[in-house]
Amino acid sequence: LFSGPIAFLKSAPSLEFLPDPEVEEVAFAGRSNVGKSSLLNKLTNRRDLARTSNTPGRTQELNFFDVGTPLKVRLVDMPGYGFAKAPKDVARKWRYLVNDYLRGRQVLKRTLLLVDSRHGIKEIDREIMKMLDDAAVSYRVVLTKADKIKASDLREVEALTAEEARKHPAAHPDIITTSSETGLGIDQLRKAVIEAIG
Ligand code: GTP
Ligand code: MG
Repeated sequence: LFSGPIAFLKSAPSLEFLPDPEVEEVAFAGRSNVGKSSLLNKLTNRRDLARTSNTPGRTQELNFFDVGTPLKVRLVDMPGYGFAKAPKDVARKWRYLVNDYLRGRQVLKRTLLLVDSRHGIKEIDREIMKMLDDAAVSYRVVLTKADKIKASDLREVEALTAEEARKHPAAHPDIITTSSETGLGIDQLRKAVIEAIG
């Protein structure tokens, strides 16, 4: 699935611009700078398919990528939430866009909820998790940037994160630990995407 062609389909700055819901989708959500765009690139073996940046707030629209021939899945790179420096009205716009898309999209099969392994699940993640639970939208917690912390700290954050995920009705009981830098967990993540659309 991920070795074939991958094409950028479109960018949706608001809900009117969403592509027709004709293909199943898997979305990458999470706080600003958590590594959503980087992980999407790594998953698809593309260096710069989705634009990444050191500056939080890089991704400002919903970006859709078509994967596979014949078309099998559409990956969605989302703007991050909780970007403190974004102007208030901009932050509010992203929040509505992300929430409305996640809650209302019929073809959305699973949301990958990315959490920085150095920080673990934060209050803003809990808000999103609750929103997804309430809307019965299936999601899976994915730890990112595992290369940035010590193995012993990683084990600890994995245990805490998995324990918390299991308490959420719409969350997959198993988390995935990844690094876009080393490739850790990428195969597992690919399997999770395939499982979600299967
Ligand atoms: P927004 O679009 O602003 O919400 O950010 P994002 O979640 O898409 O993050 P992005 O992929 O742009 O990555 C943010 C920064 O973290 C970049 O400087 C990346 O190079 C870095 N980064 C992402 N993933 C990893 C990782 O696994 N390991 C390390 N060391 N750095 C990473
Ligand atoms: Mg991004």
